[in-house]
Amino acid sequence: MVHSATEHVIRLFEQRGQGRYGSEQVSQLQHALQCAVLAKRQGAGSAMIAAALLHDLGHIIDQKAMPESDDQNLDDAHEQRAYEWIKSHFGKAVADPVRLHVAAKRYLCTVEPEYLAKLSPASLKSFHDQGGVMSQSQIDDFRDEPFAFEAVELRRWDDLAKDPQMQTPRIEDFAPLLDRLVEDL
Ligand SMILES: [Fe+2]
Repeated sequence: MVHSATEHVIRLFEQRGQGRYGSEQVSQLQHALQCAVLAKRQGAGSAMIAAALLHDLGHIIDQKAMPESDDQNLDDAHEQRAYEWIKSHFGKAVADPVRLHVAAKRYLCTVEPEYLAKLSPASLKSFHDQGGVMSQSQIDDFRDEPFAFEAVELRRWDDLAKDPQMQTPRIEDFAPLLDRLVEDL
């Protein structure tokens, strides 16, 4: 059976997922599916595959549109907007890496300068809008988060999930995985 939370996710992506993922060459839906596929290829568990799929749900969960031009302020707090909803339906192991995926980029760019050098122009712009390089106390706070490691893993898939050529399953194909997380909560 398909749970209502799973149905809601599918509906959101069907209704609002066709918009571009910022100034990248893929849609919101393609970005989410690619991120989930990358997680799966790395042998990630169900919670992390779901986190990859849902990490940018905050961009489409309400009517606030994602900024499409890099000239705008790209810090739209999207990592927070879907947090409570994801946590209540799919659990903390899905929701917390989602909440932390923006901080994880700042963390990675701070501790791995070569990571910063590889960001796409849009990702570099949002990095600066979201606060840029972390201070030592911000690094320590991030490392203290129980899902810090998972957030960093998610972040690496996120930054690779922008390939206009990549083939993926459909959003409906992830319904059984999402359903199982709802049932296990
Ligand atoms: Fe993303």
